Amino acid sequence: MKPIRVFLKERSYDIHVTDSFNNLPNLLTKFQFHKFGIVISHGCILTRFGKQLIAPLKQSGWDIHTITVPESEKSKSLDMAKYLYKQISGISQMRNPVIFAFGGGVVGDLAGFVAATYRRGVEYIQIPTTLLAQVDSSIGGKVGVDLSFGKNLIGAFYQPLLVLDNTTLLKTLPKRQIQSGMSEVIKYGVISDRKLFQFIENNLQDCLNLESNVAQFIVERCCRIKAKVVSKDEKDSTGIRVILNFGHTLGHALEAATGYKKFTHGEAISVGMAFACRLSTNLGVLKQAESNRIVKLLEKVHLPIAVKGVSRRDVMKAMSLDKKFIAGKSRWVLPIMIGKAIVKEELPQKAILSALEHHIFS
Ligand SMILES: NC(=O)c1ccc[n+]([C@@H]2O[C@H](COP(=O)([O-])OP(=O)(O)OC[C@H]3O[C@@H](n4cnc5c(N)ncnc54)[C@H](O)[C@@H]3O)[C@@H](O)[C@H]2O)c1
Ligand SMILES: [Zn+2]
Repeated sequence: MKPIRVFLKERSYDIHVTDSFNNLPNLLTKFQFHKFGIVISHGCILTRFGKQLIAPLKQSGWDIHTITVPESEKSKSLDMAKYLYKQISGISQMRNPVIFAFGGGVVGDLAGFVAATYRRGVEYIQIPTTLLAQVDSSIGGKVGVDLSFGKNLIGAFYQPLLVLDNTTLLKTLPKRQIQSGMSEVIKYGVISDRKLFQFIENNLQDCLNLESNVAQFIVERCCRIKAKVVSKDEKDSTGIRVILNFGHTLGHALEAATGYKKFTHGEAISVGMAFACRLSTNLGVLKQAESNRIVKLLEKVHLPIAVKGVSRRDVMKAMSLDKKFIAGKSRWVLPIMIGKAIVKEELPQKAILSALEHHIFS
């Protein structure tokens, strides 16, 4: 498959959607660096797939080392970054390593952040292993760690040298992780790819089974959209990248209000997408039938569209905090048909509250 290019002048790079790691050494030959790499991953991922990744690199002369971090959002911390600096420093002996971020979004964000900051920046490669990371977090260079009082508060825009999506790895993902990643995939369909949306509707079971051809097809379509958006707005500064936040204004608030414990990210944004569809239909910009199709697909994936046991007040509070942190105003991504969305700023509080009554129940 032809690689997907992220166009960012001298920081441009390719995303390779493939079914093996065998060609990776070959892809790396065009870069001028010593063949010295450190793979940052989780123990379980290395046990399952480490050999597949590392053997072809070693065969072509790479000196490869590994460091593991625990499987948890808690690993996205400054303490863990410090631990990694120390380990890397011990292994490297003043050489500059190439970092391989081999895992889901947690590993990608953490290893990318360490690559951005260790010795004022070393090269890194994203090798995402979850559906969410393959279609979203590995692309675009947002790297970072959490602080105790907020997620992703410390970080940078730091682009990888390349992204390699091996879709065969997705087969071992737990069901909940697949559904969660699927939520982002549906997001891409709604905001900009009606054909992708229809494809998921028509081939839902194959999509959820992540059959090889199907997985490559959906991952590639999503990566194309993200690559295009990021190419136009690398640093989230022109407003174009906001479109990727469909379902995220409420989704983020729902995650924050429930301490990032009750819902996966994909589940939270599923509720957010259903909510944004309601706002759109209430405002008369989206036909009811289109909204119904979106909500129906989310339900078929067993994603939530409404949640119980959550305080609406807490969610509203989290939303206003997010607004203060991010840009001073809340922005709503509203679908106007499947495949197209617009961005609206500052909707009336009343419109938000009355729509919220259908999605958040205490
Ligand atoms: N940088 C960005 O632009 C961006 C965008 C979206 C999300 N994120 C971040 O991504 C993180 C969430 O990422 P995630 O959903 O990938 O979660 P994750 O990285 O925690 O991975 C989820 C779980 O799946 C396991 N796993 C990974 N690959 C597997 C495989 N192939 N088979 C079986 N199990 C596997 C992991 O070990 C982990 O336990 C959050 O920290 C979020 O903030 C970043
Ligand atoms: Zn997301």
